[in-house]
Amino acid sequence: MAEQGKKPIKITETVLRDAHQSLIATRMTTEQMLPIVDKMDKVGYHAVECWGGATFDASLRFLKEDPWERLRKLRAGFKNTKLQMLFRGQNILGYNHYADDVVEYFVQKSLANGIDIIRIFDCLNDVRNLETAVNAANKENGHAQVALSYTLGDAYTMNYWRDMAKKIESMGAKSLCIKDMAGLLTPYKATELVTTLKKAVKIPIDLHTHYTSGVASMTYMKAVEAGCDIIDTAMSPFAMGTSQPATEVLVETFRGTKYDCGYDQKLLAEIAEYFRPIREDCLKSGLMNTKVLGVNIKTLMYQVPGGMLSNLVSQLNDMHAEDKFEQVLEEVPRVRKDFGEPPLVTPSSQIVGTQAVLNVVTGERYKMVTKESKKLLSGEFGQTVKPFNKEVQKKCIGDAKPITCRPADLIEPQLAKIEEEMKQWKQQDEDVLSYALFPQVATEFFKYRQAQQTKVDQSIADTENKAYPV
Ligand code: CO
Repeated sequence: MAEQGKKPIKITETVLRDAHQSLIATRMTTEQMLPIVDKMDKVGYHAVECWGGATFDASLRFLKEDPWERLRKLRAGFKNTKLQMLFRGQNILGYNHYADDVVEYFVQKSLANGIDIIRIFDCLNDVRNLETAVNAANKENGHAQVALSYTLGDAYTMNYWRDMAKKIESMGAKSLCIKDMAGLLTPYKATELVTTLKKAVKIPIDLHTHYTSGVASMTYMKAVEAGCDIIDTAMSPFAMGTSQPATEVLVETFRGTKYDCGYDQKLLAEIAEYFRPIREDCLKSGLMNTKVLGVNIKTLMYQVPGGMLSNLVSQLNDMHAEDKFEQVLEEVPRVRKDFGEPPLVTPSSQIVGTQAVLNVVTGERYKMVTKESKKLLSGEFGQTVKPFNKEVQKKCIGDAKPITCRPADLIEPQLAKIEEEMKQWKQQDEDVLSYALFPQVATEFFKYRQAQQTKVDQSIADTENKAYPV
């Protein structure tokens, strides 16, 4: 029990998910994680975020790892700590909308394999896209945390956030997250926002921000003083830059105050010691680029998340149009306005970013339009806070009639068909979900897995043949 008047801050550790997603393109392997799990389990973290977001795709695609196997191994190691994942509402961990049966089954399997807290967000803040996942989590007695995708713009007033928070609470969320993926929330704004939300809802409030613009630690401090219950931090070797503020620093900041969480700084130092050589290796190999470690004030000017900035650079490099970078940055807010001023977070960040690149590189706005831009302007990702630019919409989708219902209402159940399609590869129920989200990438992985297993079987057979010559 907390002493009278004390309100120890709760910390969610992100080193096993967002931190490496933000700094090293999500390339931390399960093998790199497991040796330190035992120590991390002793800290007393509120939760460890370790799954979902881009980790699922990256595990299958680049690391040739089964993400479900990773989750089970982490669950086995973390005996006392809650495990958290990031979930993109009706997009699950992919980039499109899926049928409700897939969303429900994914939530069920995530919880069954060891997740405690599912952080659910929608890139347009369309609450209809959150409902299926929240209901599924509640049905399985999981903790559904719903996130507001924080952004700036005329429509995003304190009233807007207050109304959304109330909707989220009445939807059945067990906690609320302010998800500031671009590091746009400045310290005094945080005081105002957290104070407003604390008055509006009773559920705990978690603040998630990134250091991209250099204000994150101060923002956490003001938020905690205003009543924020949980903050997200990363162990120092994978902190700062486009990642979160450092865990050790925030723990020390609140020591001796009513917010003191009492974590053992010696234990944290040992954990940091473990991650430091991994950071050094990443710096040496170039996987961690010093560019993402500094302060990028452009993120405040253009309101572009850190990950999106590096995507734009690589898209322009591929097109040999590096010199167009500034023009593209200026085009991003214009496209965002045309598209109803959505927050910029996966997948809306990719859609707006790619369209901005095309608008600049082709020399004519909306001369070339991506399939995703058309879908967005057809209402297929949901409702934006502001209306679309009618002229732009007409130029992009012609006379097609946009939808106004919840997009998933138009998607037939998918699971049975998907299972039939991939049954030759199925070794566990969860494989159906890997395939549902990333059919090509999952198939490649299944082939790789089978080849590995054949190799192992062969070497066992060889050993047996040697042991028992016939
Ligand atoms: Co984040």
